[in-house]
Order: sequence, then structure tokens, then C-alpha cells
Amino acid sequence: MKVCVVGTGYVGLVTGACLAHVGHHVICVDNNEVKVALMQSGRLPIYEPGLLEIVQPAVRAGRLQFTTDLGTAIAQSTIIFIAVGTPALPTGESDTRYVEAVAQGIGAHLTTGYKVIVNKSTVPIGSGNWVQRIIIDAIAARPDLVTANFDVVSNPEFLREGSAIYDTFNPDRIVLGSNSDRAICQMQELYTPIIDRQFAEDASLPPVPIVVTDLSSAEMIKYAANAFLATKISFINEIANICDRVGADVTQVAQGIGLDSRIGSKFLQAGIGWGGSCFPKDVSALIHTAKDYGYEAQLLQAAVKANQRQRLLAVEKLQQVLGILKGKTIGLLGLTFKPDTDDIRDTPALDLMVYLNRLGAKVKAYDPMYVKETHGAQEIPDHVILSATPYQLAEDCDAIVLVTDWRNFRQLNFAMLAERMTTAVMIDGRNCLDPETMAAAGFYCVGIGRPSVGNLLDVTRQSPPAIAQVA
Ligand code: UGA
Repeated sequence: MKVCVVGTGYVGLVTGACLAHVGHHVICVDNNEVKVALMQSGRLPIYEPGLLEIVQPAVRAGRLQFTTDLGTAIAQSTIIFIAVGTPALPTGESDTRYVEAVAQGIGAHLTTGYKVIVNKSTVPIGSGNWVQRIIIDAIAARPDLVTANFDVVSNPEFLREGSAIYDTFNPDRIVLGSNSDRAICQMQELYTPIIDRQFAEDASLPPVPIVVTDLSSAEMIKYAANAFLATKISFINEIANICDRVGADVTQVAQGIGLDSRIGSKFLQAGIGWGGSCFPKDVSALIHTAKDYGYEAQLLQAAVKANQRQRLLAVEKLQQVLGILKGKTIGLLGLTFKPDTDDIRDTPALDLMVYLNRLGAKVKAYDPMYVKETHGAQEIPDHVILSATPYQLAEDCDAIVLVTDWRNFRQLNFAMLAERMTTAVMIDGRNCLDPETMAAAGFYCVGIGRPSVGNLLDVTRQSPPAIAQVA
């Protein structure tokens, strides 16, 4: 089928590349000329494992193209995805300006012949009808076109950064929201190779379930899924904080409750809080929508509040171990909001940098993917000293906080790391380091909701100070 994807962020680019990979002809449109030129030259503006490996052959086979020309792309396609960003406004609402502009552009360029307009951007509930209205109004303003034949579908995505390709080919379900049977049929045809698991890890599984709903229910499914997952993490973080006080181990507790099939074991990894471009924005937007309709979403508000506190928990733990932080050097191991991405949007590391600086600490940081020059607006504060390796990071540090659970952090030479530090203190913000290995390497290692290991007196050569509370 002929497909156009407008917006080449994580969602648009991965969707376009995967659809081309399964055999469709895809044109990805973006108004950023630099980005389009980069992709035309066979490079990618984002890091996503496995993406380049499917983009390059699809481009070579002529099934994947990149352009800034929306009109031509629309004319050539029967299915048009809107996959532009909906960042959060300071009020917590979604900024739907880009979706609106694309809908107007679609209305301005639509040609005769049936088209399906698919909303893949995470948009406030009710946006499907709104997009339809914008397109109709744009068509009405055109003297060259009396009427256009199109339907709108809401098709939320559930892919995670870092495993986006896997998630696209191995979905738990595909959600299609529309009032049009014809549009639903076209979407099912589009996704047939994925529904039939032709590109799945396990092709013997039954077909992917399709959930067909009305427009607003599909939009709500997206928000409800992200809000549930974020709340689940806030829940286990709360349990971790209680574990810390009673001496229990949250990793064991998570295993014990996760095996209950009603609870499930995923998204029960306690840590220093959730971040990224989706959970914070989507939970805030849902709270805001609820408010618009006269409802106070108290549980979601609590999940957000608990997460804000959790993101500074590492500072509290540093104060418990080191006392005064003014004049101390703290290393942040990992900057991205999760591993296998170069994305530092709303990462807990940013909160830590700001707060540690406010307390007078010197902040160093290392991340395997973060390259300051390529991140532009996502830049980290100037006071942060970037290190080239984890060992350089460790030099003269009074403590390291592991912020991101990059796999290779588990294989570091911890004795070598400890040697370079002033005091070998590790706050394992993701509970991903092996306690015995850390203790054997000479570290005093503090996790989130699990007992600390190592001998603090040996490490700091002084008595641990009284517990101080982060304001
Ligand atoms: C999330 C959802 O998982 C996807 O289904 C959804 O499509 C996507 O948002 C989106 O709306 O676009 P993503 O933000 O890429 O995906 O990352 P997650 O793997 O969900 O992690 C989000 C945050 O939660 C990260 O900061 C991660 O470190 C944290 N997390 C995750 C935990 O602290 N504990 C866990 O057990 C799992």
C-alpha cells in the first residue's frame, strides 16, 4: 500500500521504516530540511537500536523516501499518518499546534480518491473529530476541490524507545478507533504482515489482537495505558521507600507480587523515577483533560507527586551517607531517561544536576550516548562537567549516582572505579548492580528499597553523619 507519514520523530520514523520493511511504499515527510537531508543521505537523526538496519535496505529498495514536500506525498498515498510531536505546555496540556498545522496541510493538499488519515500522535481525547473538522474546513476554502473522500482513524502507538522496532513487530495489540468500517478494513490490510506475525520473534503465536473502538476510546486507551504504567512504577517506588525503612528488599517484593498474574512482573523495577518524553507529558495531559471535564484525578496527581519526590531521592541518600554536599563531587553515571536511547528529555538526571548544584556540589556526568553537540535544545546545564569514560567520571568523586541502567554499566571494573574516587560510594538508582560485586570491589553501595552493602566506615574513613532531609 502507499503510505505517507508526517513527522519523523521516534514514532513517525519507526512507523515509516517498519511499514516499508514489511513491503509497503512509504514517504516520510518532515518540514525540517536539515533532518530530511540527513535521512536522504542514509543517516538518522535519532539513535534507536536496529533502526538503521531496516531503513537503509528499504531506502535502497525504493520503498522508503524522505521529503519536505507534503503535497506530493499526500497525492501519492492512500494512508496518511499524522505522527508529529505533542509536547507539554507549561500548564500540563498538550501543545497540539503541530497536529493542527499538519491537518490543515492535509486539507490543503488532499486530492480526489479515498484516503485514510491516521492519528498516531498522542492527542487529547476528542482530537480525531477535531482533525476531521480542520481538514473539512481547509477543503471548504479551496476553489479547486468540491469535496474529498476521507476518514479519520486513531491508531495509538505503544512502542518504547530503545526497543521500538521489536515493539512494532511484536505488539500485544493494535488499537484502531474509527466510525468508518472502510477505514478499519484498510488499516487491517496495512497491518496484515504484523498481525500475522510475519516479522515477529515468535511466528507461531496467534495473530495479534485488534481492538476496534470509536475514536475517543482509542485516544483514551493510549493515555490510560501510559497513566497505568507510570502509576505502577510510582506504586513500586512507594513500596521501595517503605522497604528502606523496614529493612525489606523491594526486588524480592517485586518478584513476589509480580508472579501474581493479576499484577504481572513488568514495570515493577523500583528506581529514581520515571521520565522521558511520554509518561510525564501524557499523565499531565490526562489530569488536565479530567479537570476540563470537572473531575480531579487524585490518583494520577499522587503518582506524579510521588515521582517528583522519587527523582530527588538520590540526593537524600547522598546526604545520609556524605552529610554536607557543599564542596563534594558527585558523578552521574548515565544521563538518558532509560537505556538504549540518546534521549535526555525529562530525565531524572536533569533534576539531580540542578538540585546538586543548588546544594553546592560539583557535578560530573557520563553517558555512553550523550553527545552535547548533537542535542541542541536538550543541552545539559553548563556547570556539569562531562567525562569521556566512566573511569574519568570516577576521578575525585565523593560518590557516584547510577541514573540510567545501561547494560554495560554492570560490567564495569568497579575496583578500578573505586580506586579513582575520593570515597567509594555508589547510589544505585536503578537497583541494577550486583551487591556482592560492589562490596567486593570496595564500594559502599546504596540501592532503592534494598539493604545497602559494604562498610561505610572503611569507605569514608569517618562516621556516617545524621540523616538529613531533602526539602
Ligand atoms: C512509554 C511506554 O512504555 C510505551 O508503551 C509508549 O508507547 C511510550 O511511552 C509512548 O507513549 O510513546 P518509553 O517512554 O519509551 O515508553 O519508556 P518506558 O520503557 O516505558 O520507560 C519510561 C520510564 O519509566 C523510564 O524513565 C524508565 O526508566 C522508567 N521505568 C520503567 C521504571 O522506573 N521502572 C520500570 O519498571 C519501568
